Amino acid sequence: MLHIVFLLSLILSTSHATVQDFCVADLKGAEGPSGFPCKTVAYVTSDDFVYPGLSEPGNTTNIISAAVSPAFVAQFPGVNGLGLSAARLDIAPGGVIPLHTHPGANELLLVSQGHITAGFISSANTVYQKTLKRGELMVFPQGLLHFQVAAGKSKAVAFAIFSSASPGLQILDFALFASNFSTPLITKTTFLDSTLVKKLKAVLGGSG
Ligand SMILES: *[C@@H]1O[C@H](CO)[C@@H](O)[C@H](O)[C@H]1NC(C)=O
Ligand SMILES: *[C@@H]1O[C@H](CO)[C@@H](O)[C@H](O)[C@H]1NC(C)=O
Repeated sequence: MLHIVFLLSLILSTSHATVQDFCVADLKGAEGPSGFPCKTVAYVTSDDFVYPGLSEPGNTTNIISAAVSPAFVAQFPGVNGLGLSAARLDIAPGGVIPLHTHPGANELLLVSQGHITAGFISSANTVYQKTLKRGELMVFPQGLLHFQVAAGKSKAVAFAIFSSASPGLQILDFALFASNFSTPLITKTTFLDSTLVKKLKAVLGGSG
């Protein structure tokens, strides 16, 4: 008898438990440090947990001959609050994902086609690099500058998994030469020649 009472009370208490399984992003809300506010559960569907956008190659007809297709929380609301996200890299022969950092996440890169030379620079200014083939993984610790370059003559594809729903992406050359960082201050703070700075700004669209 006592067992039954205990079981009943357990069932009643768990059926009223308020464990929050997920928090699909309501992208109309403001993003805070812990993500977006949750979409009302009644409106959540299976599609919120699926992102088909990485199934097609990105467009590599551009200055870097490469494409990064993100599946961060802004594209894939289902990852909100779960501490992970993904991206697809398509790199045409000769293409490059220029030096960049993800201020908010570690990255795990899995090559699925072709060969990629990838590497990062540690805080101690040591370069760790490797040419990866299909099926090989490399990790890039949070915040460190890193790059990926197509190795060989064929197109390369890789998928990246990040340890945050909002890894952030800052490309070093874009920060310097696609921004309104003034040329005198760039030359002063980077020791680069101003002719080179102006040339790169003209290519990447920087001002100032
Ligand atoms: C890829 O991008 C280029 C340059 O923006 C554009 O001309 C081309 O139409 C795009 N290709 C596809 C398949 O969308
Ligand atoms: C760069 O542009 C932003 C947005 O227009 C502006 O707020 C900022 O003050 C500008 N910075 C400089 C150094 O001009």
